[in-house]
Amino acid sequence: MKEILLGVSASAACFKAAALASHLVQDGFSVTAVLSPSAAKLVTPLQFSCLTGRRALCTEWQPHDPAGMDHIALARNADLFLVAPASADRIGVFAHGLAPDLLASTALALDGEVPKLFAPAMNPEMWSHPAVQRNVAQLEADGWQRLGPVAGRTACEEQGLGRMVEPDAVVEQLRALLAG
Ligand SMILES: Cc1cc2nc3c(=O)[nH]c(=O)nc-3n(C[C@H](O)[C@H](O)[C@H](O)COP(=O)(O)O)c2cc1C
Repeated sequence: MKEILLGVSASAACFKAAALASHLVQDGFSVTAVLSPSAAKLVTPLQFSCLTGRRALCTEWQPHDPAGMDHIALARNADLFLVAPASADRIGVFAHGLAPDLLASTALALDGEVPKLFAPAMNPEMWSHPAVQRNVAQLEADGWQRLGPVAGRTACEEQGLGRMVEPDAVVEQLRALLAG
């Protein structure tokens, strides 16, 4: 069974990550969720634990791994790393190789062969900001695959590019990627 590591950063689209986790499990994937500390203010690790049957993690300071290094254990076990939603902040953290929390240090500890995908979600002005676009381009240059965003009405009641792709579409793409 393929092991999906699902990173969740803090966005109004976090509810879609919960639906995505559920779809992935129903589709036969094993899913472990890692939430950023800010994401855990919008959705709870417990919700993801319920949906995945795996303990969802948020901090490296209350480790689940017996050796105390969750970022290493999570990274070693992953067949695919998907960050959905990916906030502007999180994209910047990954693009700069920073490791302020468990989600970021796990991303750095991944084997270079593990596919890394991100599904941005943000306000259209944020998405089009040159700094965000620079960071997105850096991630793509580093081998990350981008899913979306798509155009439509965003949570901040604006119309434009910035909505996270729908969970169904993400599952389709993962299935195709892992089958190939
Ligand atoms: C209610 C709420 C909704 C937010 N939605 C988004 C969003 O959709 N996209 C985004 O990039 N930032 C959004 N933010 C701002 C991020 O949460 C903030 O930049 C945070 O530091 C991101 O942390 P993380 O990347 O560690 O998860 C939102 C903040 C709040 C309070």
